[in-house]
Amino acid sequence: MALSQVLMVGGGMIAHDQLLPSLYHFQRQGRIGEIAVCASRFSTVRALAESETLRRAFPAQSFRGYPDREGAPQPELYREALAALPPRQIVVVAVPDQLHYPVVMAALECNQHVLCVKPLALASRHAAAIEREARARALVVAIEYHKRFDDRSLMARRKYREAAFGEFRLGSARLLEKWYYRHSNFQNWMTVEHSDAFTYIGCHYVDLVHFITGLLPVAVSVYGVRDRFPNGQQAFLWTDARVIWNNGACLNVQNGLSFPDDAPGTNTQGMTLYCAGPDIGALIEHSDQYRGLKHSYLTRSADPGATIYAEPSPDYFQYVDLGGAGLTPVGYGFRSIDYIVSAMLRIEAAPAAERRQLLDDLDGSGLIATPRNSRYNEAVIEAGRQSILDGGREVKFEL
Ligand SMILES: NC(=O)c1ccc[n+]([C@@H]2O[C@H](COP(=O)([O-])OP(=O)(O)OC[C@H]3O[C@@H](n4cnc5c(N)ncnc54)[C@H](O)[C@@H]3O)[C@@H](O)[C@H]2O)c1
Repeated sequence: MALSQVLMVGGGMIAHDQLLPSLYHFQRQGRIGEIAVCASRFSTVRALAESETLRRAFPAQSFRGYPDREGAPQPELYREALAALPPRQIVVVAVPDQLHYPVVMAALECNQHVLCVKPLALASRHAAAIEREARARALVVAIEYHKRFDDRSLMARRKYREAAFGEFRLGSARLLEKWYYRHSNFQNWMTVEHSDAFTYIGCHYVDLVHFITGLLPVAVSVYGVRDRFPNGQQAFLWTDARVIWNNGACLNVQNGLSFPDDAPGTNTQGMTLYCAGPDIGALIEHSDQYRGLKHSYLTRSADPGATIYAEPSPDYFQYVDLGGAGLTPVGYGFRSIDYIVSAMLRIEAAPAAERRQLLDDLDGSGLIATPRNSRYNEAVIEAGRQSILDGGREVKFEL
């Protein structure tokens, strides 16, 4: 049987830092076939193809690029790339948040399995439409919440479900990306009318609290500070969200593109959950930024946000030298893609009559976020968008 082909739509930061290297590694292992990347601009595809980091790690590998030459931006070119793909291959969606829905739907209409970066969609009805379309065609749609594959999340989930912590009551989480993100392509899309810091990155911790506790959110209020990107576009670059859960618990989430460039680490992030048992308290506290490593280099690397004194995370995504040509990707960012792609390949290899049961099992196990088992994420995002545009008013919802 021919190996599954993979088409990635979008070739920006997450494509470079996590998705393409994971796909290249599967290709090197002989688990997937050809890889194609489609962006709206040739310059994006070229930059990805010429990346020194990727060349060093995967010296013998390359992808087919759309577009393949200079020209005007082609925002609809992904439809051509999809049409060129045989049915039931894998499409990775890595475009800005507001484009996830049309690109995922177009991929499903071409009968493709879909891995979509978070958040799946900005409206619950869009996620429901994706779910219906995928089910009708017995296709996998997986939303890539890689924090789920951090062992500390899996440890907390297992212990919580063994009742080791009692019940979550009050917590806080934060994830602030570095200031330099303001100068990136984000200024073209993370603007007030489309997205905000909570929608972009806060959804990780909402998802994680459900993943660990099984609780469901019921209301959200998001206060956003309006600020401007360097290109003058207005954006909610600082947000403070309050998420209420179905047991009355409350999670505060702070987000921003605001962590100082000169501070160590690629961002700041972490989570504290206070829990209650019978007349006794319990605690889950994760420092997701400082993971015990301190490096001080001789010189500052030219990479944006790089510092001389650094606290690198060994856990999200790193390249290690395990011998042979190139480097091997490791970390939960890699494991997450591995788990999802493996599930797609397994389901595709199964007899057609068994695929729906396997899809039910995938929804039921809850390890991968699917449109069916993670509707709460789109509900929070839709309500959060309403709230932030309305000055932080609480918005309740039903799932
Ligand atoms: N921690 C995470 O899980 C995480 C981290 C970063 C980004 N993301 C998500 O990934 C998505 C992309 O983020 P990014 O950081 O790579 O952003 P980015 O701005 O660096 O890249 C976006 C890419 O989309 C491409 N694109 C835009 N319109 C297109 C179109 N019509 N057709 C084809 N390509 C198109 C652009 O060319 C660009 O390559 C966002 O939804 C973001 O929320 C997730």
